[in-house]
Amino acid sequence: MRKQIAAANWKMNLSIQQAEDLMDEILKMEYGLSDNQEVLIAVPFPYLMRIKEKLSTQKQFNICAQNSAATKNGAYTGETSAEILKSIDVFYAIIGHSERREYFHENNQLLAQKIDLALASGIKPVFCCGEPLSIREANNQNDYVETQLKESLFHLNATQMKNFIIAYEPIWAIGTGKTASSHQAQEMHLHIRTVLCTQYGHEIANSISILYGGSVKASNAAEIFEKPDVDGGLVGGASLVAAEFSTIIKSLKK
Ligand code: 13P
Repeated sequence: MRKQIAAANWKMNLSIQQAEDLMDEILKMEYGLSDNQEVLIAVPFPYLMRIKEKLSTQKQFNICAQNSAATKNGAYTGETSAEILKSIDVFYAIIGHSERREYFHENNQLLAQKIDLALASGIKPVFCCGEPLSIREANNQNDYVETQLKESLFHLNATQMKNFIIAYEPIWAIGTGKTASSHQAQEMHLHIRTVLCTQYGHEIANSISILYGGSVKASNAAEIFEKPDVDGGLVGGASLVAAEFSTIIKSLKK
């Protein structure tokens, strides 16, 4: 059975003190996670090592970066490469978040480079895809997401795709309080899996966790996660509230 994952994306929030307090609060709770369940915590870069330390005794919790560079190393002021992440034992990174695409002009081709470098450093990408509202209203979301996958991922071979993590985050549902219905989520997740299956075959397509993101909260997580092709969630706002996020973790399928 593929991994069921609750991923927190703290984005550019919290002081280090608040971040540590939040992590302590989340870890106070009992989760009884099984081997196929996992929690990722994506924190601002300066907090990676401190929060990672807190997770060191937690088998099922892993630290995650929110980005990694499109170049290997060198004179790129302000960037953090996959190699640097690897050197501090960070083995997950969100790549292609819609906020990076929109505010930092990251396109599918650039994301393909980021993916290659992440994989070369042994970092597992949480690759984000998802359509803006105008595309959804025109009912073109399937083609739009398929193109994102093709242009950023389909140069990879089957071995590289094994245990990949994909997050479907419709942009109109991010931070808006407007969640995709569990039916809409399942429909797109199934489409993504079908596209993966055509390219890589059944076994690979079935091994890839596909997370849903966009206004996931304690009150809607269970209904969304229960869908057969939804393998957990990538959570922004609600991951900043310990009680909310712990309920979301507990809503993962066993
Ligand atoms: P919200 O949960 O705040 O809608 O954010 C979703 C997201 O962008 C996670 O990466």
